[in-house]
Amino acid sequence: MKNILILGATSDMAQAIAKKYAAEGWSLTLAALEKELLEPIASDLAVRSGVEIHTLEFDATDFSNHRKLYETLSTKPDIVIAAFGYMSDQDQVRTDLEDIRRTIDINFTGMASVLSVVAEDFEKRGSGAIAAISSVAGDRGRQSNYIYGSAKAGLSTFLAGLRNRLAKKGVHVMTVKPGFARTKMTENMELPEALTASPEQIAEAIFQGLKKKRNVVYTLWMWQFIMLIIKHIPEAIFKKMKM
Ligand SMILES: NC(=O)c1ccc[n+]([C@@H]2O[C@H](COP(=O)([O-])OP(=O)(O)OC[C@H]3O[C@@H](n4cnc5c(N)ncnc54)[C@H](OP(=O)(O)O)[C@@H]3O)[C@@H](O)[C@H]2O)c1
Repeated sequence: MKNILILGATSDMAQAIAKKYAAEGWSLTLAALEKELLEPIASDLAVRSGVEIHTLEFDATDFSNHRKLYETLSTKPDIVIAAFGYMSDQDQVRTDLEDIRRTIDINFTGMASVLSVVAEDFEKRGSGAIAAISSVAGDRGRQSNYIYGSAKAGLSTFLAGLRNRLAKKGVHVMTVKPGFARTKMTENMELPEALTASPEQIAEAIFQGLKKKRNVVYTLWMWQFIMLIIKHIPEAIFKKMKM
């Protein structure tokens, strides 16, 4: 039975991804910050799907523990999906230096750290797939979310480099760029219905993207065109816009 490791498994998107892979008969290793939040999710999935599920505690900012954590896995994964992330209010974060660090540590450094450990193993084995959830926010810095956006930009660049390194080694690396999604992270925001994906839509896009070995997946698909336009607005005009 193939195994998938999901990092940040209590996230709403991750839960939908876990359901999708369980329904396809994959065994799951679910890793999350708080095991107490994870256990009921895992038990429910195990009862519904009948697949084997392991759980473990994982803190994206506990960098020195990432290698040990991966080495202690009894089943090494065939796919790793990194779904953890952190976004606070931009008005708050831009003057709160601790929050700036937390935003970058979780969204960028934590991702780069743990995925580098996974990459070493996959490279040795000559197989495996890594998908990490970045964001369209990383495609261009905007006043409304440039702290979170810059961490996601770093993540997207990290993944592009990792993909370039591992493509010749039989390892697939996929960057996932959601636009808006209806999850805990955005529960206090008013989101435009037509541009907002459900966690299930994102899970399906990730599943299909990995199957088709896509490099970058935008969810929903129209975000690719929206961001193409946004990226091409000349800086002299862009800097005066309220974005
Ligand atoms: N929602 C959107 O509109 C949107 C758009 C673009 C990209 N994204 C990205 O999509 C991914 C999934 O987020 P979501 O929308 O599903 O939101 P979510 O439900 O709030 O998930 C975020 C997850 O990250 C976990 N996390 C936070 N700090 C962590 C740490 N130090 N170590 C390990 N895990 C940590 C959280 O765990 P706890 O619950 O225990 O805190 C939570 O499970 C994130 O990378 C997010 O940045 C979201």
